[in-house]
Amino acid sequence: MHRVVISGIGVEIPEASITNEELVASFNAWVDRENERRQGSGEELLQRSDADFIYHASGIKTRHVIERDGILDPARMVPRLPARPDEALSLQAEFGIASARRALSHAALDAAQIDLVICSSSHLQRPYPAIAIEMQQAMGTRGAGFDMGLGCSSAAAALHVAVNLVRAGAHRRVLVVVPEIITGHLNFRDRQTHFIFGDAAAAMIVEAVADGETRAGRFEVVDTRLWTQLSSNIRTNLGYLTRTAQEDPYMVDMQGNMIKQVGNKVFKDVTVAGHRFIVDFLAEHGQTPDDIRRFWLHQANARMNAMILKLSFGREVGHDRAPMVLDRLGNTAGAGAVIALQENHADMKAGDYGLLCAFGAGYSIGGALLRMM
Ligand code: COA
Repeated sequence: MHRVVISGIGVEIPEASITNEELVASFNAWVDRENERRQGSGEELLQRSDADFIYHASGIKTRHVIERDGILDPARMVPRLPARPDEALSLQAEFGIASARRALSHAALDAAQIDLVICSSSHLQRPYPAIAIEMQQAMGTRGAGFDMGLGCSSAAAALHVAVNLVRAGAHRRVLVVVPEIITGHLNFRDRQTHFIFGDAAAAMIVEAVADGETRAGRFEVVDTRLWTQLSSNIRTNLGYLTRTAQEDPYMVDMQGNMIKQVGNKVFKDVTVAGHRFIVDFLAEHGQTPDDIRRFWLHQANARMNAMILKLSFGREVGHDRAPMVLDRLGNTAGAGAVIALQENHADMKAGDYGLLCAFGAGYSIGGALLRMM
């Protein structure tokens, strides 16, 4: 069995951003227009959204997005991402590669030294050819590539797979890429969910190190863990069979086939499950939350993270212990916890422990216990 390190981390955040106020203005303009149409028709009138509610309920102030104008246009409310020819690099591969190149540079590696690419994301642009194979070809990595996904736990799940492949000697260096273009599937006309997500890509390089070898400033992976339990409280039904249930199978009806979430149920269920996962995973290693210098938690809701930490520690802990990036980025699905890790580890000392823990649809929870080398 090999020792395993995360030797490089890279993040790509799109330049464009949308504030709560901007998002709410476009949502409310659409609601006003729609209610005018519904007036007197017997159809239920829609409720307006509210920027203060969004901040207080979730902690989100802004989100970064790949394309802004289409989202903010009340007549469209979907990003405008033109189709590309089959010969051109796909948008999701391009976005992931931007983060992957930063991870390679952080690890001081060439693409040719990578022997497996895993693209893991809550949403994949298409089923095949795998986005990871496109990345492999465009970057010049060796070996193979495949796609996988596990909702907002996609990065943690891929890390679990990559670490164990490297530990067992099946691969020497694995590039895990998490390109989340989640605004493409978000229903910007749904008051419950329109404010939640933002786009971001993150990448990590997982590689074997020899016994006795150290990599100062990098993390050794002590262990990884994955937990799932079925729930439809976060769900999308969009898939290749969607059209087969429709009267006109050549016009896919998106209504009802975008992301749905019963936010308050997810909040309660995942807070309890997340807390249990953390305490149990650490206990398996003879540790308690107090032994962990830093927690890089999934970035979905600031209040939820505070509650998970309070249950786990038995007291409130601050952002130095568990940093947040969601106030400026929104929920970037699988990428969120990795971005928190990338931005918040430079001050850690050799021997310090950190826990990356992501949670989301499935339900799913994934964790990685790390030790600074
Ligand atoms: N603007 C104004 N009011 C809104 C609103 C909006 N955009 N969305 C909902 N509300 C209202 C509701 O109608 C409800 O009103 P009522 O009390 O009169 O019925 C009230 O706000 C509370 O709604 P609720 O859905 O209970 O809000 P919440 O406090 O649970 O916050 C989330 C909503 C989505 C922020 C929160 O539930 C959450 O983040 N959940 C976890 C998400 C998660 O972790 N997902 C997993 C990873 S993807």
